[in-house]
Parts: sequence; structure tokens; C-alpha cells
Amino acid sequence: MLGRQWCDLSGLVALVTGAGGGAQGGLGAQIALALAQAGAQVAVNDLDAGAAEATAAEIRKHGLVAEAFPADVADSQQADQLVARVIARFGKLDILVNKAEYHSRAYRPDEIPLEEWKRSVAVNVHAPFYLSRAAVRDMRKRKYGRIINVSSIAAIRTSVLHGVPYVTTKEALYGFTRHLATEVAQHGITVNAILPGFVVTPKLAAQWPEERIQKLGPTIPALRAGTPEEIASLVVYLASPEAGYLTGAAIPIDGAVSIVPGGRMDPENSFV
Ligand SMILES: NC(=O)c1ccc[n+]([C@@H]2O[C@H](COP(=O)([O-])OP(=O)(O)OC[C@H]3O[C@@H](n4cnc5c(N)ncnc54)[C@H](O)[C@@H]3O)[C@@H](O)[C@H]2O)c1
Repeated sequence: MLGRQWCDLSGLVALVTGAGGGAQGGLGAQIALALAQAGAQVAVNDLDAGAAEATAAEIRKHGLVAEAFPADVADSQQADQLVARVIARFGKLDILVNKAEYHSRAYRPDEIPLEEWKRSVAVNVHAPFYLSRAAVRDMRKRKYGRIINVSSIAAIRTSVLHGVPYVTTKEALYGFTRHLATEVAQHGITVNAILPGFVVTPKLAAQWPEERIQKLGPTIPALRAGTPEEIASLVVYLASPEAGYLTGAAIPIDGAVSIVPGGRMDPENSFV
């Protein structure tokens, strides 16, 4: 064991959805950068073609391998074609990170516009199903696959900040993860969900007032928000050969906030 490089993704091909934005992007972009740095060739998906290219270009700037694959993953045909395009370009698909999300506002439950509900389910639940289905067909040929679904602690805590469509779809993703894991384990494919708590990405920092971010720190047992690097390093581990026996898990990564009982029903002063 001594002398080996841990979590080396060299020779593996990864697809990360909703990963646009480059160095200033959200979690997906940071995950794509980390997978590339760990050695994977990375297909960067986003609905926004320019944003996907920004992340791919940022990765290539560091001498690593990445290409943009814009698509709407909530469309089953586009999702199938996306996986086919990645395989045509890189020869295979080993790692799928389902991170694209539609974030509906926290409407009152009786006021949620039907289109908001439908889009949330389409992007946050249907898309991971379409993509996983297509990916598994390729992964099982080589008896290696890693599917990582980006859920949220809202799946186990509910959330006043995010509202019904978000909480419902993130919990559905958790159930999808656990069941799919049992179906594909025999083929060397693992399926896990990560449940981030409050993470300050460059994108979030640009959108939220600093004062609001500072106010949330003390509500978390770790007394601070998580960093994109802390989330991305868990994804790198789950994507690696070393994580072959870890499957069907839903891993909170949240400074222990999800295990604190109670919580304020005040979206301004609580992250969950
Ligand atoms: N930042 C946090 O504190 C936090 C906490 C818990 C969970 N999360 C999870 O992290 C993810 C969001 O974080 P983020 O910082 O990356 O936000 P983000 O806004 O950057 O992610 C959304 C991205 O997905 C893309 N997208 C939306 N619909 C798409 C579609 N149909 N096809 C392809 N791409 C699509 C968007 O263009 C955007 O780039 C979510 O899954 C969220 O639940 C974040």
C-alpha cells in the first residue's frame, strides 16, 4: 500500500452535469475541476453552452483534459445523446456526477406554479434517471462505474429556505440512489448520494450578501460554511477505485448541521 497514489482517476472518463461557470461557477464546476485534477478526462455538461465551455476551458488551461457538452439533461433524448456523444469522444464513461438542478423558489406550497413543480422534477429526478440508465449500459461492459448524485441535507431535514419542490426532488434522488445501488452492484458499479449542507461556492458568494453568509455560520455546529473543495474531494473519493465497496450511501457533508435537533423556521437565519 505504501507508495501508491490514492484516488488516482487517470484513464477514467467523467461526465458532470450542470457544471458550467468555470472557476467562478457553482459546485458542479468545482467538482469538474477536481475530477480533472485527479486525472480524469472530463465531459462538462450544462444547459448554458457558454458556461459549460468556461469550465472546460478553465480545466484545459491547467493542461488537463476537458470538453464542453451542452444539453438539457431533463430531455430524455438529449440525455441519451449526451451519454452517446461522451462515449463517441472519449471511448467510454466511467464516472457520472448528476449535479444539474432546477432550483425553484420557496413558494408557499399552495402557490407553487405547476410549471415550477414539473421542471424541478424533470431536472432533479428524471434527468439522473435518464443519464444513469444510459451510463449503466456502458459501465457494466467494463465492470466499473461510479454514479454520484448531488442531493442535499434538505433530503433528510426538509428546508424552509428551499421549499417543497426542492425538498421533494432531493429526497427522491436519495431513494433513487439507494435502489439503483442494489441493482447494479453486481456489475462493479457504485451509486452514492452526497448531501451537502451550506457551501459557499464562488457563484453563491457573488449572489448572496456577505452579511447573510456570515450570519449562517454560527447556526452550524462547525461554526462555518463548507468549502467547494471539501465537497469536491468527497466526490473524487467516491469516483475512485478505492471506493468500490461503498455504495447505496447518502453521505451528509454539512459540519453536523443535519443532526442538530430543532432548527429555526426562518429562512433568513437558517440554512435548512
Ligand atoms: N451550495 C450549497 O450550499 C448546496 C447545498 C446543498 C446542496 N447543493 C446542491 O448543489 C447543487 C447546486 O449547486 P451549484 O452551486 O452548482 O448551483 P448552480 O446554480 O451552479 O447549479 C445549477 C447548474 O445546473 C445547470 N442546469 C440547470 N438545468 C439544467 C439542465 N436541464 N441541463 C443541464 N444543466 C442544467 C444550470 O445552468 C447551472 O449551471 C444542487 O444539486 C444543490 O442541491 C448545494
